Amino acid sequence: MSSVVVVGTQWGDEGKGKITDFLAEKADVVVRFQGGNNAGHTIVFDNKKFALHLIPSGIFRKDAINILGNGMVINPKALIEELDMLKKGGINEFNLAISDRAHVVLPYHSTLDQLFEDLKEGDKKVGTTNKGIGPAYTDKAARIGIRVCDFVDLEVFKDKLTDNLNYYNKIFKLFGKQSIDIDKVYSEYKDYSLRIREYVTDTSILLNDQFDNNKNVLFEGAQGSLLCLDHGTYPYVTSSSPTASSVPLNTGISPKLIDEILGVTKAYSTRVGSGYFATEVENGVTKRIREVGNEFGTTTGRPRRIGWIDTVVLRHSKRISGLTALSVMLLDVLTGIETLKICTSYELDGNIIDYIPASIKEVNRCKPVYIELPGWKEDITKTANFSDLPLNAQGYLNKITELTGLDLAIFSVGPDRTQTIVLKELYK
Ligand code: GDP
Ligand code: IMO
Ligand code: MG
Repeated sequence: MSSVVVVGTQWGDEGKGKITDFLAEKADVVVRFQGGNNAGHTIVFDNKKFALHLIPSGIFRKDAINILGNGMVINPKALIEELDMLKKGGINEFNLAISDRAHVVLPYHSTLDQLFEDLKEGDKKVGTTNKGIGPAYTDKAARIGIRVCDFVDLEVFKDKLTDNLNYYNKIFKLFGKQSIDIDKVYSEYKDYSLRIREYVTDTSILLNDQFDNNKNVLFEGAQGSLLCLDHGTYPYVTSSSPTASSVPLNTGISPKLIDEILGVTKAYSTRVGSGYFATEVENGVTKRIREVGNEFGTTTGRPRRIGWIDTVVLRHSKRISGLTALSVMLLDVLTGIETLKICTSYELDGNIIDYIPASIKEVNRCKPVYIELPGWKEDITKTANFSDLPLNAQGYLNKITELTGLDLAIFSVGPDRTQTIVLKELYK
C-alpha cells in the first residue's frame, strides 16, 4: 500500500492533471478532495486532449476507482456535461464514486458569485471563475448547503432548494437581480439527480476499505497553495484548501495514511485572477512564454499572468503541505530564452525576507531578489533522461532543487503523457 498526494505549489494550472493522469497508471484509486469546476485539468495522450473540471484525472485508467471526495463542491449540470464529454471522447469504461457528503453547486451560487464580484470595486475584485464556488462553500459553513445525499433524495432536495431560494431571491430583489424560479430549477436538476444517483456512496468507507486492502491511492489537488483559503494570498484566494493537510478532512481518512506529497510547479509562474504576484513581468519574454506555453485558462480562457519562478513561494508551499518531492513542469517552454531568472527572496522595506507576509499591504511592497542563470536553445521535448538535457537546463533544475531542498521526482517537457521523465519512484 502506498499513497501519494499531488498538490499545486503556485496559483494553480501547474500541470496537476497531467501528473495525476501519469501517476494514475499505478493507482488503484484516484481522489479529488476539494474545489469544484473552478478547476481545469488538461490531459493529453494518444493525440487526444481532455479538459476535466470535476472528475479526477485518473478516469482514463479503466481499472482505477475515481472518487469525488466530501470536500468538493459539485455542480451536477457540469458533472453530467463532463460525463457526456468523456463518452463522446470514447471513454466509456470507468469506475466513479461521488461522496454523499460533498456539497452541490446550484444556479443561485453563480448568480451570487457574480453579484459579489460586481459589488467590489477595482482591485478589490477577486477575479473568480464565476462558477459559484465561494457561495457554495459559504452555504456549507452557514449550514444551509445542499449535500449530495440531500440532492439525490428528491423530497429533501425540493424542500432545501425552496428554503434557499426563498432566502436568496430576497437578496436578488434587493440588488435588482432577476429572481430564480424554484420549479424551473427543480425540474431541470431532478433529471441530474436521477442520473448521478448510481455513483453516490459513503466514499470515506470506500476509501478506507481500499487502504485496508493495501491499494495504491492517489490524491489530486485542485488550484494551488497560494490560492488556499488559509495559507494563500487572502482575500485573493479560492474558498477551499488545496494543501496536503486538507486531504484527511476532505476525504475521511487518517492523516497517518499519507506517504508522499508531490508538489507540482511550473518552470516559471502564472496566475489568473487578481492579487499579489511578486515575480510578474509583462514584456517580450513573458509574451513569448504565454504563446509557447498556451497560457490561457482551461476553465475561463482568460490570458494567464506570467512571471519568473519564485522559490519563496515554493518553500512556503513546502512548509504548509510538507512536500516530500517536486515535479517541475513546462520546462520546454523556457527553451530559447537567453537569461533565466529565479527569485530567491524578497526585499521588504530594505530588509531581505524569506516568507510571504500575511498583510496584503506588506506583501504588495515585496520586491523579488533574483539570481540569473544562462538559458538553452536545444529542443528538449524528446528528452528521455535528466542527463540528455542541455547542461544549462540541468543547471536550472538543480538550482530549483537546491533552493527548495526538495528532490526532483519528475520533470515534464511537453503536454503529452509520454513527455514525462521520472527520477524518483513515488509509490513504495
Ligand atoms: P492543472 O490545472 O494544474 O491541471 O493545469 P492546466 O491543465 O490548467 O494547465 C497546464 C497546461 O500546461 C495544460 O495546457 C497542459 O496540457 C500543459 N502542460 C503540462 N505539462 C506541460 C509541459 O511539460 N510542457 C508543455 N508545453 N505544456 C504542458
Ligand atoms: P486548477 O485546479 C488557476 C482562481 C481564480 C481566482 C481565485 C478565486 O485548474 O489549478 P474561485 O472561482 O475559485 O472563487 O476563484 O482562484 N482559481 C484558479 N486559478 N487554476 C485553478 O484551478 C483555479 N481555481 C480558482 O482565477 O483568482
Ligand atoms: Mg488548471
